[in-house]
Amino acid sequence: MSRHFAEKSLVVASHNAGKVREIRELLAPFGIETISAGDLGLPEPEETGDTFEANATLKALAAATASGRPALADDSGLCAAALNGAPGIYSARWAGPQKDFDFAMERLRLGLVEEGTLDTRAWFICGLALAWPDGHVEYFEGRVDGELVWPPRGLKGFGYDPMFVANGQTRTFGEMEPDEKTPLTHRAAAFRQLVDACFKS
Ligand code: IMP
Repeated sequence: MSRHFAEKSLVVASHNAGKVREIRELLAPFGIETISAGDLGLPEPEETGDTFEANATLKALAAATASGRPALADDSGLCAAALNGAPGIYSARWAGPQKDFDFAMERLRLGLVEEGTLDTRAWFICGLALAWPDGHVEYFEGRVDGELVWPPRGLKGFGYDPMFVANGQTRTFGEMEPDEKTPLTHRAAAFRQLVDACFKS
């Protein structure tokens, strides 16, 4: 049985404005006010975990402990079957300090070439951790499966979107409008679980 979220406000443990806005919109229907870790001046912990769960949990716990309020954190990434799940938790880091995702996508393509494989199966994962100041954590994980394609197509998304076609689709996430992509994503799948377990009365 998951712990029910009974408070009125929540810290979003992210310094990424896009993520904070997305989470704020998802929680608005539940009358939950959100404050970002950035607005509270909380430090950003180093992502030292080796799983999505460990990284989401350490970010949520750090924000909950420092602020004295419940905090929500996410950790996400793209996993290629032929590369044993890489880049996975290193998805952002593969883009380098310039956050160059053309470079990261090329690195992924070269990785598969080096493996000499025709296996293009891949999946996105989103881990969501909700932590309370007493140390209690609820964790949920969403996943969307698909195929990697070359060359990358579409400029509407971000990150690895232009090279990912979800199963049952013909266009990449980068070719879809946000309202078409969002319900299909790993993030939406994780949020549905979080909402069902912790926010519905
Ligand atoms: P983090 O969760 O902020 O550590 O970074 C996750 C990284 O995974 C992002 O920088 C993106 O490159 C990638 N990623 C996660 N979700 C998506 C998505 O929906 N589309 C494309 N790339 C994504």
